[in-house]
Amino acid sequence: MSTLFTPLKLRGLEIPNRAWMSPMCMYSARSEGPEAGVPTDFHLAHLADRAAGGLGLVMVEATAVRPEGRISPWDLGLWNDRQQEAFARITAAVRAHGSVPAIQLAHAGRKASVDKPWLGNRPVAPADGGWATVGPSAEPFHDHPAPTELTVEEIGQLVRDFATAAERSLAAGFEVVEVHGAHGYLLNSFLSPAANRRTDAYGGTLENRMRFPLEVVEAVRAVWPEHLPVLFRTSATDWISENTEDTREGWTVEDTVRLAKELQTRGVDLLDVSTGGMVHDAPIPAAPDYQVPFAERVRQETGLPTAAVGLILEPAQAEAIVASGRADAVFLGRQLLREPYWAHRAAEELGAESRWPVQYGSRRRPPFEVGPTRARSRRVEEGTFAGARVPSLVVWLGRDAGAPQLRREREGVGGGDDGEGPRAPVCRVHSESSAVHSTSLISPGPSCQNQGTPDPDSFRDETKVSRHFRRTGRTALFAKRKDLRQEFDPSPRSGENA
Ligand SMILES: Cc1cc2nc3c(=O)[nH]c(=O)nc-3n(C[C@H](O)[C@H](O)[C@H](O)COP(=O)(O)O)c2cc1C
Repeated sequence: MSTLFTPLKLRGLEIPNRAWMSPMCMYSARSEGPEAGVPTDFHLAHLADRAAGGLGLVMVEATAVRPEGRISPWDLGLWNDRQQEAFARITAAVRAHGSVPAIQLAHAGRKASVDKPWLGNRPVAPADGGWATVGPSAEPFHDHPAPTELTVEEIGQLVRDFATAAERSLAAGFEVVEVHGAHGYLLNSFLSPAANRRTDAYGGTLENRMRFPLEVVEAVRAVWPEHLPVLFRTSATDWISENTEDTREGWTVEDTVRLAKELQTRGVDLLDVSTGGMVHDAPIPAAPDYQVPFAERVRQETGLPTAAVGLILEPAQAEAIVASGRADAVFLGRQLLREPYWAHRAAEELGAESRWPVQYGSRRRPPFEVGPTRARSRRVEEGTFAGARVPSLVVWLGRDAGAPQLRREREGVGGGDDGEGPRAPVCRVHSESSAVHSTSLISPGPSCQNQGTPDPDSFRDETKVSRHFRRTGRTALFAKRKDLRQEFDPSPRSGENA
């Protein structure tokens, strides 16, 4: 049984699985005018499609609580009604696919006012549509302009801004709110001695440096319903202390454990554990799972649930993280940009059910008959393939298995649960675009139909498929792609893609 596809309950909210979409800025909102910061059709399609991809939770990108809190002028914001209304469309679309809509509330602080990454990520001057930045101290990030040190009154206003944005988030239909305390942005810059040089109640000791982020969390928690969870994203380390030759002061994993305990007492329900972003030249040993040890440590030492993130790419990798108790959930970022339907592939590989959009087929059962990999490979042995050329065709389920056409064709084989009843058996060879992960499902081909079209109900599961083919003297094939290639004379379409 897959842990990744086991629901996670946080407070009163059950999140259907533990594969979640990490917040990712898309730099695609209007930069100015009444539409500034308002989610567009792009955001709607982008986020709804990730929800259709079967993730348990879809987190909206860093969304600024006030205009100067945007990373770039093209960031999302949630400080007015127009933005709130547009977000309501997104939460409805995400929820319609069975995912939990979540939003990350943020202020970019001294790293704000930069260009889109694909235009160079350079600071945008006020004369060019940017703005003067603020921070804990007049300490610049890298070669950015120095920020203005925030006054205590301004800090108080920002705490209220986060709370107001949380209220708007709730009104827009979000069920999870995450406070962005990572990656060198405003709250993170208060935490780290690398940026915070204040000498008042908001600087100096760890307790003082934690004050502002904790005030924000308290204010957000105060307006967020008791039954819904609050998350906090942290950078567990500035990657200074890990480098013994670097003598600079930085935020450490020990500090993170202290912070996690404070967050826990203030009602944070899960720590989203990232790293870095504070010190531009601190080397980061990025590799699969490289941030998992931080999530693991926080979880072990505090008991606070955590989510791991960073180069989590493969289903087995994600499964191992949650099944071994290193984290309670995983966030995926770039892999979901490459492969929006990753969770469906993961479910299939892990022998779990995934939640396909009802429009693509059944909601009550997975789109393909799945089982543990071992069980499928046993069927490979059972399905003695005679070596003869098989006229029937194989629906091949692989990385692009989310294609609606494929889904429909599978329904054609097995009959639908969507009220339309079984459709005609279909005949087609599917190949898929990249690596192959799954087994095959057989439907009768054109020449089979001369020998009598089987009852579509007999194709409801692979065992019955095998039985049917044994009964009719034809051969069931459950093979890996290589075998398929050997045994099949592929159609031109499959040849193209192979
Ligand atoms: C295009 C892009 C935009 C991102 N925007 C955000 C963001 O808005 N908030 C945030 O906390 N992290 C952001 N991140 C970091 C991701 O959420 C994630 O932590 C990081 O990409 C590592 O995960 P991955 O290896 O699965 O991509 C962004 C990453 C990318 C690639």
